Amino acid sequence: MSFTAEEIEARGHPVWAEVDLDAIRHNVGALKMQLAGAEIMGVVKGYAYGHGNPQSALAMLEAGATRLGVARVAEGLHLREAGITVPIHVFTEPPAAAVRTMLEHSLTPTVYTQAFADALSRTATEMDRTVNVHLKLDTGMHRVGVPPDEVAGAVKSLLSAPALVVEGAWSHLAVADLPGHPFTRQQLDLFHKLTDQIEKAGAKLRYRHLANSAATMADPDTHFDVVRCGVACYGLWPSRDLLGTLDLKPALALRARVNMTKGVKAGEGLSYGLRYEVKKASRIVTITAGYADGYDRRLSGRADVMMNELRYRVSGTVCMDQFMVDVGQDEIEVGTVATLIGDEGSDRVSAEELAAHIGTINYEVTTRIPSRVPRVFLNERAGG
Ligand SMILES: Cc1ncc(COP(=O)(O)O)c(C=O)c1O
Repeated sequence: MSFTAEEIEARGHPVWAEVDLDAIRHNVGALKMQLAGAEIMGVVKGYAYGHGNPQSALAMLEAGATRLGVARVAEGLHLREAGITVPIHVFTEPPAAAVRTMLEHSLTPTVYTQAFADALSRTATEMDRTVNVHLKLDTGMHRVGVPPDEVAGAVKSLLSAPALVVEGAWSHLAVADLPGHPFTRQQLDLFHKLTDQIEKAGAKLRYRHLANSAATMADPDTHFDVVRCGVACYGLWPSRDLLGTLDLKPALALRARVNMTKGVKAGEGLSYGLRYEVKKASRIVTITAGYADGYDRRLSGRADVMMNELRYRVSGTVCMDQFMVDVGQDEIEVGTVATLIGDEGSDRVSAEELAAHIGTINYEVTTRIPSRVPRVFLNERAGG
């Protein structure tokens, strides 16, 4: 749900995510400068990695992305219902029951099984139309895709279905986040071989695509006709190895209000499990965000939050809706805004930092911010 800062105030939302659409535009622009003509597909699955749609998708398009990528038909529908008309690629095959919906909304299917190709062909014929499909090749990640030795048969079958047009072929890199890893070269070589084979079989591939953000930033040989960029569009780093290699601006901040402050005596424990012991009489503030807001329970005792431009450590267990911070003798008022992710002054709590505390990646940190946390979009363009 999207709200203005005033609405957040009026509805008493104690926690919200600010998403700076100018940062997204800036990042797409920075990625675009890496390219010698390839198009950018903005990857906006997972509610734009938690940043929110359709606003994030629109910002990417405003900055020069020409197509969008989602994981599910429902995500594509959401964008179509918002009036977005560019090609929207669905990365996995949906159940046969969703094929008609997919075609009615002109979502671009990824194909890798005969059963789905048959369902598409049948439905498109019934609807008296053709459909552009992108064939997914398994070049080594073994998630979804046609295995290399089945590509010839798959192309033959697709070419024999008059309602299907093989417009593209693509694959996905398993270790692009580790620049220079030999497996990427191996996948690239196999991708060249398989796409050549597809063309020799008679399909004219207008779009070949392989690169994610990491490969877009690190390896121009992977760019082909389209690059599929997600994480970098949001100003998040694809990996530690790529930190600082492009001018990226993080787009998301997660902020919450202080709900209560109190004095607690030395020797008392805080929160579930009493795992934090107050060493000397202190002010304890309670902040209204918890693991139901995507603020992981494993951040207990580990993460820093910022208030009044100072860092404080989360003290004790993160609860479902709240957590506590021992602020020593500092004066923090009820209503103060705490920054859980984002900038305050010249400091920043990054999604990367939180990810490191809980043994995951920045992608997961932002993507898991649920819908109960309203998004406030900054720098939204009129009509966008
Ligand atoms: C098929 C596919 N392409 C591209 C991407 C974008 O990857 P990244 O966010 O690393 O740019 C993803 C995301 O996981 C994906 O699943």
